[in-house]
Amino acid sequence: MTQALKGVRILDFTHVQSGPTCTQLLAWFGADVIKVERPGVGDITRGQLIDVPNADSLYFTMLNHNKRSITLDTKNPKGKEVLTALIKKCDVLVENFGPGVLDRMGFPWETIQKINPKLIVASIKGFGPGPYEDCKVYENVAQCTGGSASTTGFRDGLPLVTGAQIGDSGTGLHLALGIVTALYHRTHSGVGQRVTVAMQDGVLNLARVKLRDQQRLAHGPLKEYSQFGEGIPFGDAVPRAGNDSGGGQPGRILKCKGWETDPNAYLYFITQAPVWEKICDVIGEPGWKTHPDYAKPPARLSRLNEIFARIEQWTMTKTKFEAMDILNKDDIPCGPILSMKELAEDQSLRATGTVVEVDHPKRGKYLSVGNPIKLSASPSDVKRSPLLGEHTDEILKQVLEFNDSQVAEIHASGALTPPPKVQAAE
Ligand code: COA
Repeated sequence: MTQALKGVRILDFTHVQSGPTCTQLLAWFGADVIKVERPGVGDITRGQLIDVPNADSLYFTMLNHNKRSITLDTKNPKGKEVLTALIKKCDVLVENFGPGVLDRMGFPWETIQKINPKLIVASIKGFGPGPYEDCKVYENVAQCTGGSASTTGFRDGLPLVTGAQIGDSGTGLHLALGIVTALYHRTHSGVGQRVTVAMQDGVLNLARVKLRDQQRLAHGPLKEYSQFGEGIPFGDAVPRAGNDSGGGQPGRILKCKGWETDPNAYLYFITQAPVWEKICDVIGEPGWKTHPDYAKPPARLSRLNEIFARIEQWTMTKTKFEAMDILNKDDIPCGPILSMKELAEDQSLRATGTVVEVDHPKRGKYLSVGNPIKLSASPSDVKRSPLLGEHTDEILKQVLEFNDSQVAEIHASGALTPPPKVQAAE
């Protein structure tokens, strides 16, 4: 079995979260990912949210598996020479610098194309062309400007950002798809191209059901939103809808046994129309199967608060796992609210490699999320993230084929820092 992207070499200029999630995915699929980092500093996340002294943070280690690291000052003339040599040897350059950084470094698209016309140049920026194109952007800015925050939370509360990093990791996923698509295109066109994803666009893509609802509003109230049943009029923009489902099957988060003390003793319950009669039997309301106020979905829309309150009376008599077992026997869609502790301990996620234990020379063992995308003929092995500049000399000699005196000359120029010594954690 060979890894799907074996033979593809990536020049990884990414930092923080959005870009690194993209190149980590490509590395898991077998690409040789060479992470270029500033001498002495490296990716800023190495030192952010430190939990173990003198070890790279989990923020960094969990986003940079399976990569090699070279330090390089790309503003140093010798550093620029090394970068030019790397551009010639790579298939893809990925970056998520602030707007204009690559141009200021002396490597605009036109220059890169001249150096290597087959190179694919993939970029993440906060915004696409337009009034905000020069702005620097982080996760929550993207969530707020991409339509997620205005539609998340409760109607009468503040807009909310989500815990899932849809602005960073979501955009990284979009970019990875753009890169493999451009690589496929290159197999018959023979040329590289630019791939760009704006974080605002990525978030809006993930929030597309809310743009759907924006247009439906022109034709009347959104009847599946709780506020319709509560008799609260709609304004001219899609409102926040709490835990209402985003689709046509009404759903809510309901309390389960133990909710008074356990903040995660809840279950998401969906009143899917085809299993309505089974739901009525399970919760002890068989009369609702034929009653005109409850039997058909349109009649239920104005009574969702009453219906979910009745279902909750039932879920509160069960733990979330007991409720899940009972409901799934009848194919009633539902999902327990799982805490990060429960997910970290979940043995089935360990068995599939979605949650993995990784060993690191400076921090020892830690848990990470492995590759969630499974290929039947190309398994992913999760290897620890590199120390800063760990592979500097290896890359200069093996990839760029520099001899010892050339390597010594580059070191003497101050364009990079010597690789660290790797020792196992005590
Ligand atoms: N050698 C020399 N200089 C380097 C270097 C290297 N190896 N790597 C980076 N630098 C320099 C850049 O050249 C730039 O210098 P300049 O501004 O003088 O041209 C400088 O580092 C800062 O780069 P920048 O990317 O702007 O970093 P920042 O810390 O100021 O901003 C972000 C961080 C994330 C806000 C910004 O990169 C950004 O908006 N990225 C696009 C959107 C994005 O991906 N956001 C999500 C991040 S999770």
